[in-house]
Amino acid sequence: MLTLLSNAKINLYLEIVGSRTDGFHELVMVMQSVALCDRITLNPISGPSITINCNHPQVPTDHTNLAYKAVTLLQKRFPNRTNRCGGIEITIDKKIPVGAGLAGGSSTAAAVLFGLDILWKMGLTRLELQEVSAELGSDIPFCLAGGCAIATGRGEEVDVLPKSPKLFAVLAKYESISVSTPWAYKTYRQQFAHTYLPLDDRATLAERRARVHSSDMLKSIGARNATAIGTHLHNDLEKVVLPAHPKVTQLKSSMAEIAQTNGGIGTMMSGSGPTVFSLTETLEAAEAVKQEVRSRFNDPDLKVFVAPFTSHGIVTKA
Ligand code: C5P
Repeated sequence: MLTLLSNAKINLYLEIVGSRTDGFHELVMVMQSVALCDRITLNPISGPSITINCNHPQVPTDHTNLAYKAVTLLQKRFPNRTNRCGGIEITIDKKIPVGAGLAGGSSTAAAVLFGLDILWKMGLTRLELQEVSAELGSDIPFCLAGGCAIATGRGEEVDVLPKSPKLFAVLAKYESISVSTPWAYKTYRQQFAHTYLPLDDRATLAERRARVHSSDMLKSIGARNATAIGTHLHNDLEKVVLPAHPKVTQLKSSMAEIAQTNGGIGTMMSGSGPTVFSLTETLEAAEAVKQEVRSRFNDPDLKVFVAPFTSHGIVTKA
């Protein structure tokens, strides 16, 4: 039996560059792991079955769960290394909100790939793990690597960045509001396709990537300048998700104001949302923002968490 902890991520920067020939979007993102984690237990069982247990009612426990797909993909890609391993029971103790823009499902899948490689003694190389994780989902290579990274392509091309300063994220999500990632990108395409780089313009794309590599956000991280990181937060998907969810728009503007008066350094929606986060430099400031958000909204549907930045994606638990 093996237990793993899989961390959530936030996007410090998310820019949609254009369309790709595979139907996905070309992205430039800066991702950061935060210490809000699910606990994944892998239990080998005899026979070929894959079973999933989860304490969260919205998480499917059948073949549509990314964790299930992670197992079958490993079996398909590496038949010689998996065919004598039997089945697996996966137990997910979920703390990361679902449908939240925090890569909860992707990080569980990353934990399953990472854990089965160990449990089944597959001896996968880092490259093999990266390739199989990229096939499974755009965010999964980052979830495996963890820490702070720039992600390009679909999001699956991950370059680890120097450690960001030790900041704290106050995360707020309405339990009853979830955003579908395909919906967010499809709606963005409907409204903003006219701003996309032409598909065949590889030169412009390379220039754009190079520009982002030397962007204000990366300079701020390189300089470990917390205030500048807070100033340069950016997420293109806010343009479609916020207008569709007025409660989230209201939450973001209140959190920005609360953060400003309580030592916060910036507020933004993460990924395809609807989680909104404020960054602070100290735990005390983060707790103050959390308390003020809770008391101002006084809504049991609004869940608020404090999660420090962490340099880990997946870790095994003794
Ligand atoms: O890769 P993943 O399964 O996480 O993507 C979910 C959906 O989000 C895709 O099916 C696609 O609709 C959209 N997406 C996109 N461009 C990306 C990543 C995701 O259009 N780079």
